[in-house]
Amino acid sequence: MFARSAARALSAPTAARLFSASATARTKVAVLGAGGGIGQPLSLLLKNDPLVTSLSLYDIRGAPGVAADVSHVDTGSEVNGYAADQLDQALEGVKVVVIPAGVPRKPGMTRDDLFNTNASIVRDLATAVGRVAPDAHILVISNPVNSTVPIVASTLQKAGVYDPRRVFGVTTLDVVRAARFLAGLVDASPAETGVTVVGGHSGATIVPLLSQSSFGKTITGEKLDKLVHRIQFGGDEVVKAKDGAGSATLSMAYAGAKFTNALLRGLNGEKGVVTPTFVQSPLFADQGVDFFSSNVELGPNGVEKIHPIGQVTEYEEKLLAACLPELKKNIEKGRAFVA
Ligand code: NAD
Ligand code: LMR
Repeated sequence: MFARSAARALSAPTAARLFSASATARTKVAVLGAGGGIGQPLSLLLKNDPLVTSLSLYDIRGAPGVAADVSHVDTGSEVNGYAADQLDQALEGVKVVVIPAGVPRKPGMTRDDLFNTNASIVRDLATAVGRVAPDAHILVISNPVNSTVPIVASTLQKAGVYDPRRVFGVTTLDVVRAARFLAGLVDASPAETGVTVVGGHSGATIVPLLSQSSFGKTITGEKLDKLVHRIQFGGDEVVKAKDGAGSATLSMAYAGAKFTNALLRGLNGEKGVVTPTFVQSPLFADQGVDFFSSNVELGPNGVEKIHPIGQVTEYEEKLLAACLPELKKNIEKGRAFVA
């Protein structure tokens, strides 16, 4: 699927690469919410990942149909679809669970406005994973990610099966956007304009560390303000353009498949797979922020090593100062929901 070296994996892979890598080890992956706007194209992209042996597609509506459709694609993996009352069967033997279940935003809404609906969806799915596949790695896409990831962690903790190395918030779309938007400004390929994006996944909690990119550090002044704003609020652009029909689905499916592939490569023992993801983290725990996205090395157990954020400019310090209090609130809200 995606390029096999870590450096290239974090740059923008071409569609052709989705079909090209050869498999080493293989794994059963479940998509919970497979009938949705993200779930369907994500399932298709995962069907094309040679590291996926078996695809288990679950939704409260439509998953058997999506599975029948995707199963005709001529790649090696088998595909099974499960109806609303078959969640436990869908999770049997699964090593990686990707969760895009839940409602998306409409114009005028924040991601936090989705909390009331999505918190219980994510909690109930995490409860089932803890019961049926307690060793699985859980990749949370459902918003608000800053709260749904702590919800998954606390739910598993309650069940006595929480391992912080196996719970991830998927923030890859922010990284994908940052590379794409920067590439457009400096007239380079997104493969060369990778940006480490840290913090969380909503507005001011999204902190692109442009100074750490050779292209990014050339952007200054008003241009920098505009680029940072575009990376932080890229989701709003799509919500507005879709005009009530939802939020990013296709670029998110791409980002979700990209992160899943990175994790699978790490699980299979590939060295040097490093990408930003929102995990339980010591980096700002002394400020009460115990989940944070930064570069994480992925390995056979999931999170192998959490990298520090590295050197940042005064400008980026200010972005971090705005990020942390909001992130803290979002995390506490998620934890409180489960408590
Ligand atoms: P969608 O409405 O098109 O699809 C959601 C799917 O979830 C539906 O098929 C629905 O039936 C299913 N679902 C609802 N409750 C369920 C349950 N209990 N179990 C299983 N499936 C259930 O929405 P979408 O556009 O695919 O977005 C899904 C979520 O992803 C939203 O919360 C959205 O905000 C989020 N999202 C996150 C990112 C990110 O970067 N992390 C990016 C885009 C969207
Ligand atoms: C995104 O960044 O596109 C997603 O989080 C969806 C949204 O609500 O913006």
